[in-house]
Amino acid sequence: MQTKRAKHIVDILLGAGLLLLMSYQVAGEAGHEWTGVAMTVLMIVHQILNRRWITALFKGKYTPLRIVQTFINAVLVVCFLLTALCGINMSVHAVPFLSDFMRASLGRRLHLALSHWCFVLMGLHLGLHIPAMLKGVKSQALRRIGFSLSILAAGAGLWLFLQNSYPDYLFFRVPFAFIDYDKPILLVLLEAVLIAFFWAFVGAQLPGLLNRRADKSSRLVFLAGILLAAVLGMGLAMAFPPESRDIWNESAAPWNAADREETAGQSPEETPVPGESTAVPAAEVKEASVDDGFVHIAGGSFLMGSPETENWRIEDETRHEVTLSGFYMSPFEVTQEEYERLMGENPSNFRGENLPVENVSWLDAVRFCNVKSADAGLDPAYAIDGETVTWNRAAGGYRLPTEAEWEYACRAGTVTPFNTIHAAGPEEANYYGHYPYEIEENYFHDEVLETRPGRYRQTTVEVSSFDPNPWGLYNMHGNVNEWCWDLYGSYDLAGTVDPTGAETGTRRVYRGGGWNDFGKNLRSAYRAAGELDMISFNLGIRLVRSAGNALSGTVTTSSESKKPRSGGKMLIAYFSWSGNTRGIAEEIRRQTGADIFEIVPVPAYSDDYNTVLMEAQRDQHDKARPAIADPLPVLDDYDVILLGYPNWWASIPMPIATFLESYDFSGKTILPFCSHGGGRFGQSLTAIAQLAPGAVIAPGLSVHYSGGSGLPGDIRTWLESQGVQINSKE
Ligand SMILES: Cc1cc2nc3c(=O)[nH]c(=O)nc-3n(C[C@H](O)[C@H](O)[C@H](O)COP(=O)(O)O)c2cc1C
Repeated sequence: MQTKRAKHIVDILLGAGLLLLMSYQVAGEAGHEWTGVAMTVLMIVHQILNRRWITALFKGKYTPLRIVQTFINAVLVVCFLLTALCGINMSVHAVPFLSDFMRASLGRRLHLALSHWCFVLMGLHLGLHIPAMLKGVKSQALRRIGFSLSILAAGAGLWLFLQNSYPDYLFFRVPFAFIDYDKPILLVLLEAVLIAFFWAFVGAQLPGLLNRRADKSSRLVFLAGILLAAVLGMGLAMAFPPESRDIWNESAAPWNAADREETAGQSPEETPVPGESTAVPAAEVKEASVDDGFVHIAGGSFLMGSPETENWRIEDETRHEVTLSGFYMSPFEVTQEEYERLMGENPSNFRGENLPVENVSWLDAVRFCNVKSADAGLDPAYAIDGETVTWNRAAGGYRLPTEAEWEYACRAGTVTPFNTIHAAGPEEANYYGHYPYEIEENYFHDEVLETRPGRYRQTTVEVSSFDPNPWGLYNMHGNVNEWCWDLYGSYDLAGTVDPTGAETGTRRVYRGGGWNDFGKNLRSAYRAAGELDMISFNLGIRLVRSAGNALSGTVTTSSESKKPRSGGKMLIAYFSWSGNTRGIAEEIRRQTGADIFEIVPVPAYSDDYNTVLMEAQRDQHDKARPAIADPLPVLDDYDVILLGYPNWWASIPMPIATFLESYDFSGKTILPFCSHGGGRFGQSLTAIAQLAPGAVIAPGLSVHYSGGSGLPGDIRTWLESQGVQINSKE
């Protein structure tokens, strides 16, 4: 009897401990670890007290209920022990001397998934005991009321289970715990209790359901209980889907005619201002002459670029004061609906009329500007002759923002890395939310970050999503990058009034980061660049119009038509850490017979995955240029360089930077190929553009890890599309 009571006490303590563990923000990191240690001890005590259950295993008759009970208990014990083991691996407070025996990222994923399984199984386990505990309640009325209330609570629990993305955790779909530190602690605990209650409710129906001696109608009642709770939970989940309430701001949608009228001539005072932003409002707002809902951005001066103290800044962000005339800017990225209506086609990868158009080249973007101007009866801003485009600055038609206009509008008066108070989080912008700003150096202890890892949506979202910046512009950070007018080059520190970009070059600037970019590449000052015919499902358009007659003259830019010279002699140069890029490079050599050179850094990177993660981010952060073991090949003989590398922290590994900086690539073509773990090229193409300014960068090939059995075909298709000669025996 005493053992039974002790067991119940231990059970309750385990349940309470698990609630505390699942509500991470209640106890914090140290509290979480010590609770885990206490739970492990309790679990061992539980097993000792429960030794009769263990010795009776596989003995006696197995009824359906006993099979289910045994299964749940056994899986719970295994899950619990594995969760504890992974927890020990991550420990920095309780048992740090026992930690680090398994790959940290693997340990973290396992810990996350298994701990959620423990929570579900513990709920079921406790639920299985409930019918026995309720035997003393004789009043039928009381039982009915209790049952009905339980259905409501369980329904709410199921909804919260879905709301809090439990299925994502259970099925290994998230690498980090996404913790809402702003949620009141009591609410966090209440939610955890309700979620556990849902599973306990399901567990409590099982004895009745599986009891073969029970009559059909009472079994139906148990089944109906579960079904009703499920319908209620799913209904709530459909009415209040996870995160949707914050993200989808339907009322501001540009496709809503009534709202469009409201947005026209919108003043900054009317636009929502996030929190205590450091932003200052635009000084003055004039009524737009065209009823297109564009926001007037008053002219002024600002500091363009980033201060040298800004973490993860790139050298090309030289800070300098710029003065701009006023202009009108669309609050939204161009939607697919509008693009298709005007251009008769929709090139986008992700489909949805209110999603931003993507997969548009810079040339497509300027053509679109002119078509939209014609549609609105405005003077076209551009004269387009092949790849030579002349911007008539006096024209009132639609155009791309200059890079300076874009950054001025994005900053909206802020001088911080992002236009939000802290770095934009995944609930404020659509980007590769697993990797918020400064995750690189805090990968193993992301709890120190103000902006925590969060959702990676792997798609664009509607253009009115999230709060706008202080000047009423939506998605200046994230969703899709946005093409600017400027040719990419060093900033002209002398011409700082209404600057229009570099005078020569082939690449166009694009800004803001997209759904597939890391936090550091969403910074207001970050500059990305691509060839004018490059397309990407991470890159779209936002339009502006000049205001008044402030601008005059024309700017003509030609791409200097540097088409890839793929007929010449080819060199494959690659760096590979774990062999995937090497495999791709060797397949390319097999198909082309090109010369090959492996870029081997000295000293070599560590063989240990966790260590190389740190070494790689340190090198990238410090802009290191590791030495290369073998003498570099003479590049004079080669016209085309097939450059291979793994995606490291959304960019190139630094030995590639050493290689690129060792040559003048003028007149040469680089065909990049990149092995990745899901991030495709990341921002590696921009990094190459910065380091090899003279080269033409042709469309590259991104390969998921080793590329699998489709690799030879993918390589052949890519090479052929670039006009590369394939061996005749292929
Ligand atoms: C240090 C390091 C950083 C990485 N960063 C990324 C990343 O940001 N995005 C991504 O998709 N994959 C990333 N990966 C995965 C590699 O790109 C992927 O495993 C690739 O296939 C490795 O190529 P390799 O075998 O030639 O070294 C990273 C791997 C390492 C070791």
